[in-house]
Amino acid sequence: MKPPCVALVSGVIDMRFLMPAFETIAPGIDVRITDVLGERDKIELAVCWAPPQGLLASMPNLRLIQSIGAGVDHILKDSTLPPKPVCRIVDPDMTAGMTAYVCWAVINRQRRFPAYCAHSAAGVWQEEAIESPSGHCVGIAGLGRLGTAVARALVAIGYRVQGWSRQPKTDPLPGVTHFHGKAGLEDFLARTDTLVCLLPLTEETTGFLGRETFRQLPPGAHVINVGRGAHLVERDLLDALASGHLSGATLDTTAVEPLPQTHPFWRHQQILVTPHIASRTSPATIARQTLDNYRHVCAGRIPSGQIDPRHGY
Ligand code: GLV
Repeated sequence: MKPPCVALVSGVIDMRFLMPAFETIAPGIDVRITDVLGERDKIELAVCWAPPQGLLASMPNLRLIQSIGAGVDHILKDSTLPPKPVCRIVDPDMTAGMTAYVCWAVINRQRRFPAYCAHSAAGVWQEEAIESPSGHCVGIAGLGRLGTAVARALVAIGYRVQGWSRQPKTDPLPGVTHFHGKAGLEDFLARTDTLVCLLPLTEETTGFLGRETFRQLPPGAHVINVGRGAHLVERDLLDALASGHLSGATLDTTAVEPLPQTHPFWRHQQILVTPHIASRTSPATIARQTLDNYRHVCAGRIPSGQIDPRHGY
C-alpha cells in the first residue's frame, strides 16, 4: 500500500521532529509541515498538536486526524473540524512515564523532599516528620488508562488510593475506593490528601481545580495537575495557598505554555512547575501507530485510540 501524504500540523510547536520517524518507517513518504502544506487535496492524514483553527477543514481528502498525545482537546476545540476519525496515542511507555511522574510528585511532597533538598544544599543533617504511605490518601480524578495505571502503582507502594470518574467503573480496581459523578465528588474530595488531576479536558472538567474543589479538600492538601492548564483556575490556587488551606501544588501543565517568565507560579515557595514533561511518546511510536491507524481506517476497521467526539475523549 502506497504511504499516504501526511501533514504534521501545529499552531504552537515545531512538528519537524517527527519527520525522520515517518521517513524511516515509510521511505519515500510525502510528509509536509504546517507552513508548507502545498496542495491540500493530496493530504490524507493529519498528525496534530493544537492545529490552527480551520486548517484541517481545508484538507478535502483527509481520512484520519491523529493526536501526538494522549489528549485530543487541542484538536476538538477547532469548531470547523471535519467529521473524520480522531485518534489519540495509546502507548505503554507514555503510561509508564506518567505513572512514574505522579508517584514521584506524590512522594516528593508527602515525604518532604523539598525540605531535604534545602538541607542537603546547606549541609544540614535534619529529619523531617516521617509519615507512612498508609496514612496518606491519594485521590485520582480521572480513571482512564493513565489514571488506572497510576492508581495501581500507588496501591503497590502502600498509599491509600481512591478514584473518581464521571461514570461508575465497570471493572473496579483492587485496593482502590471508587466514587463517581457529581454525587460522589464531595466524599471523594473530603478524604483526599493529595489530589491528582488526570481528567480529560472537556467543557465539564474545565476549571475543575478551582475554589469549590479546593474548599472540599482537607486542610493541607496537595494538588497535582497532569491534565491540562485549563483544568486549573490559577487565581483560586494562589488564594487557596495564601490562606494556608492547600499546602502545595505540582503543575506539569499551565494555561499558557511556556509559562511566561513573570508568572506568579514561578518562584512561588509552594508551587513546583515542570514544563509539560510528565510523559512522552517517542516519534517512532507516534509514526508507527499513526500509519497503522491509517491502514485500519482504509480497511474499514476501527483504529486504535479512536475517541468519541460526543464525550470529548
Ligand atoms: C500530553 O499532554 C498528551 O496529551 O499526551
